[in-house]
Amino acid sequence: MIVSPSLLSADFAHLADDLEMINASSAQMLHLDVMDGVFVPNISFGFPVMKYVQKYCTKPLDVHLMIVEPQKFVSEVRDCGAEIMNVHYEVCPHLNRVVQQIHDAGMRAGVTLNPATPVWVLRDIVAEVELVLLMSVNPGFGGQKFIPNTLNKVRELRELIDETGSKAMIEVDGGVNAQTGAQLKEAGADVLVAGNYVFKASNPHEAIETLVNL
Ligand code: DX5
Ligand code: ZN
Repeated sequence: MIVSPSLLSADFAHLADDLEMINASSAQMLHLDVMDGVFVPNISFGFPVMKYVQKYCTKPLDVHLMIVEPQKFVSEVRDCGAEIMNVHYEVCPHLNRVVQQIHDAGMRAGVTLNPATPVWVLRDIVAEVELVLLMSVNPGFGGQKFIPNTLNKVRELRELIDETGSKAMIEVDGGVNAQTGAQLKEAGADVLVAGNYVFKASNPHEAIETLVNL
């Protein structure tokens, strides 16, 4: 399983320590949650912080933008070293254009769905993206409870991907732990995001390892 720990649950006063932990771990990516207080009811961090993360982190950066008008910030996200730029379907009326802009900037494109947004809305874009991120909590906060219907959405998305010949990976974000992670793997997920399960663990290396070995 590919694991992308979410930095949102890290200790922001000791970010360098947490980044060293990630560098030395078996996590394959690092997930960065950018929030604007408009699309979601919280504000996290932005480009100045991400620049330092880029400097110290040796893992590919998986950036999850929970902001309105993400198309305005494609070059900023690229300049922070992002390998994957995830935008929400709910804020992109011209999603096809945004995906092209992300590709033109040299990044892999991810499209993200809120828990109440059905998978079928992606039918005409899923073959164009490298990743679909399914939210298994309502975005905005770490440490929330996993929404079980996500398992049905993962299965539906797997069918849609197969039908359309898409190569997109399925990533799931919110309330992931060893138990929900195992269920998600069985349903067909490729990448698991985990915030609290990793950073609030007494042994974060072990927590990451548990998910990697699912
Ligand atoms: C929530 C963020 C998540 C969050 C997950 O809006 O997108 O990435 O950090 O945190 P946990 O794993 O604690 O639910
Ligand atoms: Zn996220």
